[in-house]
Amino acid sequence: MDGNGRWAKRFGWPRLAGHKKGAESVRRVIRHSPSLGVETLTLYAFSSDNWKRPAEEVNGLMRLLGHFIEKEVTECRANGVRLEFIGRRDRLPSNLVPAIEGAERDTAAGRRLRVRIAIDYSSRDMLLAALRPGADREDISQALGPDVDLLIRTGGEKRLSDFLLWECAYAEFHFTPVAWPDFGERELEAAVSEFRSRERRFGEVYDTTAA
Ligand code: FPP
Repeated sequence: MDGNGRWAKRFGWPRLAGHKKGAESVRRVIRHSPSLGVETLTLYAFSSDNWKRPAEEVNGLMRLLGHFIEKEVTECRANGVRLEFIGRRDRLPSNLVPAIEGAERDTAAGRRLRVRIAIDYSSRDMLLAALRPGADREDISQALGPDVDLLIRTGGEKRLSDFLLWECAYAEFHFTPVAWPDFGERELEAAVSEFRSRERRFGEVYDTTAA
């Protein structure tokens, strides 16, 4: 969900204004995803490296996440959206942890869309925690979560930034210069439609005549 800070700067506003606007995009994307056949949506809200940002921005983001959870749980529950949170919880503000646990509990029955929000998340750390002596691919995938079909990165960045490294083994990538606060239904539809037109081979050869 990149480009919030730059979006705000365009209007001479503080970076947090961009994150607030970005939360509206989150809402739009969650509402629109089921109609496009999306079953699981994972959103990168705060990486473990984001703690290095100025305290004002970090605190503002944590407050924003708290507000979002407080406001959205009822609608998610009503619409069959299951909320889950991935990442560390031991460094989060103490009021956020019960909010997260409550949201997970209250929406656990949702079957239309599974939304996973990554907070204090590092894919490398998640992988380290999942690795056990004798663990096979299946065990690790089980511990981490579903493979990614489509990864969308906004704001013109073209890197993974410690996000879903294992799960993206065969992901298709969609990079867009659109800043996250400007990302809406149209951009999501375009990304999904382009994804559906791609041939995914998973290492196999489908055109046997070309052998
Ligand atoms: C990266 O863009 C974005 C973030 C670190 C925060 C993302 C958070 C939200 C969209 C709002 C809250 C999330 C939820 C799930 C309600 P950036 O700040 O690095 O922007 P820049 O690349 O323009 O500097």
